[in-house]
Amino acid sequence: MYRILNAHLVEKARTPFYDQLKKYVLMAKDAWHTPGHSSGDSLRDSPWVSDFYDFIGEHIFRADLSVSVPMLDSLLEPTGVIMEAQKFAAKAFGARQTFFATNGTSTANKVILQTLLVPGDKLLLDRNCHKSVHHGVVLSGAHPVYLDSSVNRKFNIYGPVPKQIIFRAIEQHRDAKVLILTNCTYDGLCYDLPPIIEAAHARGIKVIIDEAWYGFARFHPAFRPTALEAGADYATQSTHKVLSAFSQSSMIHVNDPDFNEHLFRENFNMHASTSPQYSMIASLDVARKQIVMEGYKLLARTLDLTKELRAQINSTGVFQVLDLPELLPDEIKQDGIRLDPTKVTVDISRCGFTVEELIQELFERFNIQVEKSTFNTLTLLLTVGTTHSKVSRLYDALMRIARENRVARRIYQTAEIPRFTELRYLPRDAFYCAGETLPLLDENDNINTRLNGRISADQITPYPPGIPVLVPGQLITQEITQYLAGMLRSQKHIEVHGIVFDGYLPCLRVLTAIEEKNLERLKD
Ligand SMILES: Cc1ncc(COP(=O)(O)O)c(C=O)c1O
Repeated sequence: MYRILNAHLVEKARTPFYDQLKKYVLMAKDAWHTPGHSSGDSLRDSPWVSDFYDFIGEHIFRADLSVSVPMLDSLLEPTGVIMEAQKFAAKAFGARQTFFATNGTSTANKVILQTLLVPGDKLLLDRNCHKSVHHGVVLSGAHPVYLDSSVNRKFNIYGPVPKQIIFRAIEQHRDAKVLILTNCTYDGLCYDLPPIIEAAHARGIKVIIDEAWYGFARFHPAFRPTALEAGADYATQSTHKVLSAFSQSSMIHVNDPDFNEHLFRENFNMHASTSPQYSMIASLDVARKQIVMEGYKLLARTLDLTKELRAQINSTGVFQVLDLPELLPDEIKQDGIRLDPTKVTVDISRCGFTVEELIQELFERFNIQVEKSTFNTLTLLLTVGTTHSKVSRLYDALMRIARENRVARRIYQTAEIPRFTELRYLPRDAFYCAGETLPLLDENDNINTRLNGRISADQITPYPPGIPVLVPGQLITQEITQYLAGMLRSQKHIEVHGIVFDGYLPCLRVLTAIEEKNLERLKD
């Protein structure tokens, strides 16, 4: 028995790609191929840039190799150690097949959408999906049906789509091909996925779950079920966000019984670089090994730290961690939503700083950088890399600030994103129109009423929270222009992606009357 167990352990502990990469580097072959730095030789003795070599470290250069090295396999057509590493990952994460993506989940989402959808195919999607999903809509030519997310108005947190809205959309759009949702959300809210996936499958709809923030979930019962365990056909995970992989290293897990691997490959190859970064592939191999071998222990520790941090923050008497009932928007209180406790959202409204001031105070005075914020909350992310001393330093900082007894500041609530209006044309058709740019505000700062009733050619996304206020093909209304103008006027620091600036004048790219005439109007 011991020998069998040991054999299993030895097998799981293998890292086929990483082992081979190390082996190759130690062989110290002369490189007559790319990359141009040639194992760092171009940098090492340079009077100008050797500091970069010293800072980054020798091995990152030695391990930066090219597809010319056959023993390291090919990411685009794996038959050797990359294929083997992907098979190990599939087994670990409970997939039929797993693919490594070196351009993040941003690309993973686009690849799957392009694989599953042809122009005109209907896609049900959370409007709060990451922007890569909206880009996937343009690339695939899909006909999107946007499902408005729930909103917690007290904290301006956008949550899951209410179950009833999803069920209704599945019923109404019998011709839908795909449903895509984000689980968990950025703030850690997890859907009750099994009945949703079951309802979608009953109508022949494939389900993709963006698990960018939930790649660790399979390795501790507190977080299960994962998307695949709940029956999803595809799950995309930013391994780098929550496990020990390098940035941009993600995984695509496939359980679709009708998976068309050829089509997937064609789309994957359309997006992937022909010169992948091998350290990233090795980091995926190693992250998988780590979470398999010691994931339960690490996640149990992370959960303990989470509990400790929550209690400590609440003990300041000023900062308060939001629990599930406070986070949940009213419309999803009965939806069986769970909270991933490793995402810690803190109400800061009584601390005497605005959220921007607090973030700056934490950064400059205490050397602390947080994950995200709303007008009255901060969100902290705990991962397998969170340490006890880091938790103590944060507690110390918050306690010091709390003891300063500042008078609570008046905090101005940001406006709620207008509900989706109407999609007149396919986003892809609208995006590829030349359009014309119309100012959002005139020189006297008045809102341009000529935009009302026009159709956006671009995706307009204020960041944060990253939810598109307009997508290509969408009808512009006064409510939307007022919202955008309010945002540009009141919060100078906010990024609004998609706005065209004519000098200082913010403009929107809209379809011309002739372009609209030439496009086919969508039916529903
Ligand atoms: C829900 C969601 N999906 C996808 C992505 C993109 O992931 P990546 O950074 O791996 O490209 C993000 C990034 O923040 C995200 O929040």
